[in-house]
Amino acid sequence: MEYIDEIASLKDQISFSGQIEVPDGIDKIVIAGMGGSGIAGKIFQDFYTKKPVTLVNSYEIPEFVDPKTLFVAVSYSGNTEETLYAVKKARDKGAVIRAISSGGSLAELVDDTVIVPEGFQPRSAVGYLTIPLLRGFRLFGKSEVEKTKELLVGEDMHKDPFQKLADGIFSTKRIPVIFGTPGFNSVAYRWKTQFNENAKVLAYSTSFPELNHNDTMALENTYRKEEFYFFVLTHKQMEKEIADRIRITSKLCKIEMKEIEGDGTSLFSNVFTLIHKGDYISYFLAKKRGIDPRNVSIIENLKRELRESN
Ligand code: F6R
Repeated sequence: MEYIDEIASLKDQISFSGQIEVPDGIDKIVIAGMGGSGIAGKIFQDFYTKKPVTLVNSYEIPEFVDPKTLFVAVSYSGNTEETLYAVKKARDKGAVIRAISSGGSLAELVDDTVIVPEGFQPRSAVGYLTIPLLRGFRLFGKSEVEKTKELLVGEDMHKDPFQKLADGIFSTKRIPVIFGTPGFNSVAYRWKTQFNENAKVLAYSTSFPELNHNDTMALENTYRKEEFYFFVLTHKQMEKEIADRIRITSKLCKIEMKEIEGDGTSLFSNVFTLIHKGDYISYFLAKKRGIDPRNVSIIENLKRELRESN
């Protein structure tokens, strides 16, 4: 499959039927995962606020993990060192363990593994990795999937705006800076990581309103401000307080932000359409640079060297 087809398959991925089984009696949730798999937990955190959700993006797990903890390990390959260590530690503490993976050691280790289709780069399986979490907790309905699918098909057919934005970044060689808004912190971070892994450029993400209490000072007066390309991720239902912050920040800090709006009316449609837009922009930026967007050989070599040094 061409890498662009992996990206475009998001419209099918969102109707994936896999779901994690959520038992009664749990009082907190821990989700472990790295990189393109770890983003699934971050997205879940933007959807679910009924019980505490803690993300693990390393080897260690929190001390509070116990038999009332639902511990979900997400690893596309199923062989990511940090995630496997974390699962073993959670098991020792008696947590209820679930996993989402295409196979590997993780699927052998955890009986309750939702198996996702093989053959993708982990980061382009974002739908397959996230839907089982959202579905397990009943966080969206069928009509949202159908509507979002239509919107994603529309984006697949009209890629010109994404190519133009990639052109704009490429021709000025600027560093993407992505501002999220409430409910979309995970998407801003996703954009950053896709700029890193697809386009192979450094990028930075932060979110409103928190950025108004720190980044704002640097935005006003940093070194070489003209070297950054500012994006802000919005949606039509955005709170007035946030819209005001964006407008006033832009004025006081004298920066232009390119607003990218999500599509549709649900959190589900806005999150997945915004993810898709960022995926395409980073893809086209890679192409402009003459770089293979799919290739992540340094990440793979690093994992191999770490295994060999054990
Ligand atoms: C590669 C990618 C990486 C991996 C990460 C963890 O496409 O996105 O960020 O996701 O190295 O590997 P997995 O996902 O196999 O646990």
